[in-house]
Amino acid sequence: MVKIGIIGFGNMGRGHAHYLMQNKISNANLVAICDLIKPQEKIYKDLMFFYDYKELIDSGEVDAVIISTPHYFHTIIGRYALEKGIHTLVEKPISVHKADCEKLIKAHTDKNVIFSAMFNQRTRTPYKKIKELIPTLGNIQRLTCVSTDWYRTQAYYNSGSWRSTWEGEGGGVLLNQAQHQLDIIWWLLGMPGTVYANISLGKFHEIEVEDEVNAVFTYPNGAIGNFIASTGEFPGTNELEIQGDMGKLHFEGNKLQIWINNESSITYSQNSVNTPVKETKAKTSANYMATPKTEYSEIIFEEDENFLIQHATITQNFVNAILYGEPLIAPGEDGINAVQICNGIIMSGITGKKITFPLDSNKYKKLLMKLIKGEKCI
Ligand SMILES: NC(=O)c1ccc[n+]([C@@H]2O[C@H](COP(=O)([O-])OP(=O)(O)OC[C@H]3O[C@@H](n4cnc5c(N)ncnc54)[C@H](O)[C@@H]3O)[C@@H](O)[C@H]2O)c1
Repeated sequence: MVKIGIIGFGNMGRGHAHYLMQNKISNANLVAICDLIKPQEKIYKDLMFFYDYKELIDSGEVDAVIISTPHYFHTIIGRYALEKGIHTLVEKPISVHKADCEKLIKAHTDKNVIFSAMFNQRTRTPYKKIKELIPTLGNIQRLTCVSTDWYRTQAYYNSGSWRSTWEGEGGGVLLNQAQHQLDIIWWLLGMPGTVYANISLGKFHEIEVEDEVNAVFTYPNGAIGNFIASTGEFPGTNELEIQGDMGKLHFEGNKLQIWINNESSITYSQNSVNTPVKETKAKTSANYMATPKTEYSEIIFEEDENFLIQHATITQNFVNAILYGEPLIAPGEDGINAVQICNGIIMSGITGKKITFPLDSNKYKKLLMKLIKGEKCI
C-alpha cells in the first residue's frame, strides 16, 4: 500500500483527494495533506495536516507526494521530496522555466524513486490512437494545433494572488491551460527546431501575462507548425491536424478523421516530372493537379465525461510504477519539453526574434527576471 500526501490543497489538490478518498486508486491511501490554509471540511478531518511541506515529507508518514501548489513551488518542493527519497508526482507545468526544470530533474538521482508528471491528457484514447497512427503518415510536413477552448473570466484570474503575474505564475495560457497541448504535440512529434511567435499580454483580461498566442514552428525534418492558444475566445476551438506525405489526420471534438494515401505525395509529384508519359504514374500526373489516391476513415470516441478519470489514471500508473515497476505514462523528466517550448514562445513574443531550440535556459531566466521587475526586455 502506498501512503500518499497531497501538497497544495486548492482546486486541483482537492480533485486528487476526491478520487483517492473514493478508493479509485488500488493499493494507495491518501493519509496527509499540506497547505498554507487548513481545509475546514469535515471529510478531511481524519487526514494528517501539515502547514509546512518539509514537515510532511520528513514525517515518515508518506511514501509518495502529489504536488499541486502554484507552479514555482513545484521545483522547490519537488527537489526536496526527491532528495529525501519520496516518490513524487508533480502537477503540470513541472516548473516555470527551463533552468528550474533542470534543477528539479537533477534532484532525481535515485532511479528507484519514482518521478512522474501530471500530463493527464496523455491518457486520452484519441491521443493514444493518434500517437499510434503517426508512423503511417510518412514524413511529417505540417502540424496545426488550435487550443482556444480555455475561456476564462476575470474572476478566475482574481481567484488567487499568484495567478497571471510573472512573479506568481511566470506565464499565462501557455504555462497553465495550453501546457497540456504543448506536451501532447511534443509527445507526438518531438521538439521543434525553432519558434517565432506573436503573443498578447493581457489582451482580454487585466493580467500581466499572455492570454493569446500565435506561434510558428519549424521542425528539424523541414516540417512547419502552427500553435494558437487563447483564454479569451468562446466557444473557441480544440483541434489538432497533422499532415504527412502519406496522409493526414484531424482531431476535433470526439471525431478523428484519417486520410491514408496510396503513395507518397512527394514522390508522386516528383515522378510526374521525370517519368515518361507512357508510365502509369505519369499518366495520372500528366494533369498538373492530379493527386495520389487517398482512403478516408473516421473514429468517433466516447470518452468518460469525468475529466478526473484522466488524473486518476496517471496516479494509478504512478502507484503501479512504485509497487511493480510499471513504465510511466508521463515521466517527470518529460516535463522540461513543454516548458521550454512555452519559454521559447514567450521569449520570441517579447523580443520579436526567432528562437532556436534547445533554449538557452539562463537567457530565458534573465528575461523572466526582467519581466518580473517590469524592466524593458528589448
Ligand atoms: N492537471 C490538470 O488538469 C490541472 C488542473 C488545474 C490545475 N493544475 C495545476 O495545479 C497547480 C495548482 O493549481 P490550482 O488551480 O489548484 O491552484 P489553487 O490556487 O486553487 O491551489 C493552490 C494551493 O496551493 C497552496 N499553496 C501555495 N503555496 C504552498 C506551499 N508552499 N505549500 C503548500 N501549499 C501551498 C495554496 O494555499 C492553495 O490552496 C498548478 O500548478 C496548476 O497548473 C493542473
